[in-house]
Amino acid sequence: MGILTDDMKRLVDEQKLGFVATVGADGTPNLSPKGTMVVLDDDHIAFGEIRSPNTVENLRHNPVLEINFVDPFARKGYRFKGRADFLERGSDAFDASFAPFAQWGDLANTINGIVKLKVERALPITSPAYDMGASEADLRAQWTESFERIQPGGRFVGR
Ligand SMILES: Cc1cc2nc3c(=O)[nH]c(=O)nc-3n(C[C@H](O)[C@H](O)[C@H](O)COP(=O)(O)O)c2cc1C
Repeated sequence: MGILTDDMKRLVDEQKLGFVATVGADGTPNLSPKGTMVVLDDDHIAFGEIRSPNTVENLRHNPVLEINFVDPFARKGYRFKGRADFLERGSDAFDASFAPFAQWGDLANTINGIVKLKVERALPITSPAYDMGASEADLRAQWTESFERIQPGGRFVGR
């Protein structure tokens, strides 16, 4: 059995957007969003490198990675940490992991390489609102209302 539970896989699959932290050569943090996240198997999460020069450079000298996924309605998610491999387009390893990225159609053709994380630590993250006694149903209702104000009926109306 791998480290990723069914619920972890569900969240990654639903949200697709994760925030990726790497460490720079000067020891400073680098954090950037990646919206092409896929679960490859019970131990690996991956994203497509399209326009992430700093992340790629950082991984070259220090292949450690942490990714956060949060459901903005439920106000909870997971954080995943481990070591990453960069699979260059054209390699057998890239071809072996590419299938799930086909869901992005033309965007998938712009992927230069796949960053494949072997998850070594997987932890839940929850809003402190839960510590105050809020239920998931409460928070989903509250944040659905809030997003509805930003984008009524699913349509952005401008400001
Ligand atoms: C919602 C969103 C999703 C993104 N998804 C990706 C992605 O999947 N792959 C990628 O390379 N860049 C993606 N980007 C763009 C990078 O985050 C952006 O180019 C960033 O500046 C790269 O910084 P870095 O070099 O520090 O990683 C996305 C940006 C946003 C806002």
